[in-house]
Amino acid sequence: MSQVKPLRSSFSGPLVGTVQVPGDKSISHRSLMLGAIAVGETVIHGLLEGEDVLHTAAAMRLLGAQADRDSDGVWRVRGVGLGALQEPAQVLDMGNSGTAARLLMGLVAAHPITCVFTGDASLNKRPMARVTKPLEQMGARFVGRSGGRLPLTVVGSDQLVPITYRLPVASAQVKSAILLAGLNTPGTTTVIEAEPTRDHTETMLRHFGATVTTERQEDGALAVTVTGQPELTGRSIHVPADPSSAAFPLVAALLRPGSEIVLKDVGMNPRRTGLYDTLIEMGADITFENQRDEAGEPVADLRVKHSRLRGVVVPADRAPSMIDEYPVLAAAAACAEGTTVMLGLKELRVKESDRLAMVADGLAACGVSREVGADDSLTVHGTGEPPKGGALIATAMDHRIAMSFLVLGTASAEPIQVDDGAFIETSFPGFVELMNGLGAKISEA
Ligand code: S3P
Repeated sequence: MSQVKPLRSSFSGPLVGTVQVPGDKSISHRSLMLGAIAVGETVIHGLLEGEDVLHTAAAMRLLGAQADRDSDGVWRVRGVGLGALQEPAQVLDMGNSGTAARLLMGLVAAHPITCVFTGDASLNKRPMARVTKPLEQMGARFVGRSGGRLPLTVVGSDQLVPITYRLPVASAQVKSAILLAGLNTPGTTTVIEAEPTRDHTETMLRHFGATVTTERQEDGALAVTVTGQPELTGRSIHVPADPSSAAFPLVAALLRPGSEIVLKDVGMNPRRTGLYDTLIEMGADITFENQRDEAGEPVADLRVKHSRLRGVVVPADRAPSMIDEYPVLAAAAACAEGTTVMLGLKELRVKESDRLAMVADGLAACGVSREVGADDSLTVHGTGEPPKGGALIATAMDHRIAMSFLVLGTASAEPIQVDDGAFIETSFPGFVELMNGLGAKISEA
């Protein structure tokens, strides 16, 4: 990551305009990975050119695929074919990206190659045993630091055995790692998830020609099964705008009186839309226009108008469908009238930072009353008035903490400064320009 970049956000007027936020990060990673193991060319429109995804592109090149950007911004990936990834001559540096690291560990585990993974200081703290444990059951070998953390070596094999694995945590990354390992494994590999997590891997695998089936279990859980060793063929992909990035201008527009914005081509996968449900319950005026499907992924334009928000209880079972949106929801809750209770946030502790702690500390510094429960809940007491703000927020290498507090700054009495906005580049290049183009006042501090 480049230089430290402190940013400041000041009380702003209305946000007005029509914008498109960058491409979906989850779908972008997966399109490069599947393109790299397909036969022929995959053409990707709207790929997120954030640092996380560029780390995936670089890794796929080291594994033998070609991945190039045309002058018009279209990406072309020439795949090596399933089972034909080459042993990389260098360490695979996944930067800040847990998704890139975990999914790729699954993919290379089913190839007869040895790969060394590393990341930045944030990624190297994050738990990897949740992925290495099921992959070890399939027959891959791993040597990592304590807790299975990076830097870590994967000794893969094309002789893995298929497994049926029940996810101990609601994690699309773990599910995806196992399905990707199952791809180059004979027979069928099944992941059972008690709570539905984002299904972009399943959708895209089908788009490339694999067979992926789902079956409801007696206890309500969902079994997802991939049939190994399919013919994967290069495809054309249009990446929708990332709903997790759209969340930032969306919340800012809700908070600032007089605002009306349109967010174009936003992904509407029902396993990603928990934030909209929550904000609409809080009184948000959001309409979904021009709804359509692109390569199996639903997409819409979102019209968002300023709204007076009120506190609600967000149930724990909604967490997987809005797991990345709690920091910005907390900003909305800080400006709402009444108390918002967010339940079941344990997974927030193992994101790019301990997001539960970072959000709670940042809110307190901005004069917002809040409590963290022993059950990993977050309660935010809003007054319906602008919070005081006027704080310097620690972001701990976490893009979403930085963007969430910059959004809160647009609606706080005194400016909010974040200690480092450089990590916004991992997921949302152009964030400051896009927000300011709509009417926000974000500048270098
Ligand atoms: C992602 C899954 C989520 C999410 C992350 C992207 C993915 O992580 O937080 O930003 O692309 O599969 P978990 O699966 O670990 O919850």
